[in-house]
Amino acid sequence: MRKKLIAANWKMNGGLEVNRALVEAVCQGGSDLSSEVVLCVPFPYLGQVGALLQGSTITLGAQNSSEFESGAYTGEVSAGMVAEFGCSHVILGHSERRTLFGESDGQVAGKVLQALAAGLRPIVCTGECEAARLEGRTTQVVSRQLAAVLEAVPDDACAAMVVAYEPIWAIGTGLSASPEQAQAVHRQIRALLKDRFGAAAELVQILYGGSVKAANASALFAMPDIDGGLIGGASLLADDFLAICAAGDLVT
Ligand code: 13P
Repeated sequence: MRKKLIAANWKMNGGLEVNRALVEAVCQGGSDLSSEVVLCVPFPYLGQVGALLQGSTITLGAQNSSEFESGAYTGEVSAGMVAEFGCSHVILGHSERRTLFGESDGQVAGKVLQALAAGLRPIVCTGECEAARLEGRTTQVVSRQLAAVLEAVPDDACAAMVVAYEPIWAIGTGLSASPEQAQAVHRQIRALLKDRFGAAAELVQILYGGSVKAANASALFAMPDIDGGLIGGASLLADDFLAICAAGDLVT
């Protein structure tokens, strides 16, 4: 049985004061959740949020880490550094990184390898743009993105991996994929994982992201291959985020 995982992606939001209030409220309201919850915060706040999460079952995550192990890569942050701050997860290959910063499938695969080597659980993001969806190329895009990672990782990577499906047209738009639309892609992702890892693929958490709110979370999380969510905007408001976490618990 897969546990639900609710991952907050704060993106480039936050500040020392607002972080404290948000994390304290989430910890207080989320103290008895049975779903796994991880807060993926900007790099400079890893120390602060890590300290605030001490004693909580909620874990810390990052939003990116390098495809390189260490060295002369100005501005990069290695997976080892992220792990040293106590992170359990790292988001890799988010569509904002792919489209705004030109990350290729190959780079994402390299980042996943480094994250695994550092003992992190990569949350590997996939998802098509609106044009690809309209042209019926969703399967093709998601398969290509995932294949690059699955070809690169070692055979025993399955237990550490998390995959996210985040259609670009649903991110920050208020227009979520329907539970049926998302489930169809999640089932396809599961099939690709099975081709690579066999029966162990049943244990991989596949998250949906894109305008998840308290109002639509339960219906999404009730689908058989939707194992939780990757939450952007709604993760910045404690009550909204906790309501989504509670929806995860309801169907766990
Ligand atoms: P929103 O929840 O704001 O649509 O963002 C989703 C996302 O990109 C999470 O990684």
